[in-house]
Amino acid sequence: MNENVVTITGASSGIGAALARHLAQIPTRLVLVARRQDALEGVAKACGGDTLVIAADVTRREEVRRVVQESIARFGRIDVWVNGVGQGISRAPSQLTDEDIDEMVRVNVKSALYGMQEVLPHFKSRGSGHVINVSSMLGRVPFVMARSAYNGAKHFLNSLTADFRAEVQAAYPGIQFSLVSPGVVRTDFGLNALHGGADSRQFPGSQSPEEVASVIAGVIASRQPDVYTRPGAQAQVAAYYAALGVDP
Ligand SMILES: NC(=O)c1ccc[n+]([C@@H]2O[C@H](COP(=O)([O-])OP(=O)(O)OC[C@H]3O[C@@H](n4cnc5c(N)ncnc54)[C@H](OP(=O)(O)O)[C@@H]3O)[C@@H](O)[C@H]2O)c1
Repeated sequence: MNENVVTITGASSGIGAALARHLAQIPTRLVLVARRQDALEGVAKACGGDTLVIAADVTRREEVRRVVQESIARFGRIDVWVNGVGQGISRAPSQLTDEDIDEMVRVNVKSALYGMQEVLPHFKSRGSGHVINVSSMLGRVPFVMARSAYNGAKHFLNSLTADFRAEVQAAYPGIQFSLVSPGVVRTDFGLNALHGGADSRQFPGSQSPEEVASVIAGVIASRQPDVYTRPGAQAQVAAYYAALGVDP
């Protein structure tokens, strides 16, 4: 069997769950990771097949290491690792606390850092592998003031992804690190933001999680390094910097 083995963190809802359902059609050997076991079981049932569920808090390095070990123990390898976990915040920059900053870095940066670092020895041993980090348009342009600490964390994630790619590909050209940047997506993301917030489903110009999942599946196939999920996003980014008088 040559089915890809894909581990997805943040697979209990939203984009991660939609990606799991999409890949299950291809088909794919799936490992679904999040904290809520029941929600993961529901997604696994919808996916069918030989789907492994692992309840884990990926802001804890030892739990991410366990996910790597259990994925390999079950399927013999990991081909693709998707860091999908993330959380927003609703707080103006002048009001941010130390704890707000720490939490945004913990959930949006450390979760992905641990994923990349813990799966890397396995990818190196095979000379191949693919990490996909789910970032955000807000990781490139800080459009939404109240998300400032999230915007910064996703900018951090963007840099980290590019620098991991540069470091690892110098010796292992078969290992890819991709960044995927959605705009607004109709999930629980807004409701789950630190300090609460509006439902993402009510914002204009949103995409469905299924549309985003389809783009990520395309990135698994193409191995493109940096992809927006929404048509017109690149022009929007360019317009933001042009208005500031800089040319990105
Ligand atoms: N929705 C948007 O508008 C939007 C836009 C741009 C980018 N994004 C990015 O897309 C990604 C997915 O977001 P979403 O829209 O699908 O939001 P979501 O529905 O809130 O999903 C977040 C997922 O992360 C999991 N999670 C959170 N903390 C975790 C932890 N410590 N350990 C393990 N799992 C954890 C949640 O599951 P449990 O609660 O079960 O742990 C859930 O499966 C995030 O990186 C987000 O930043 C979203």
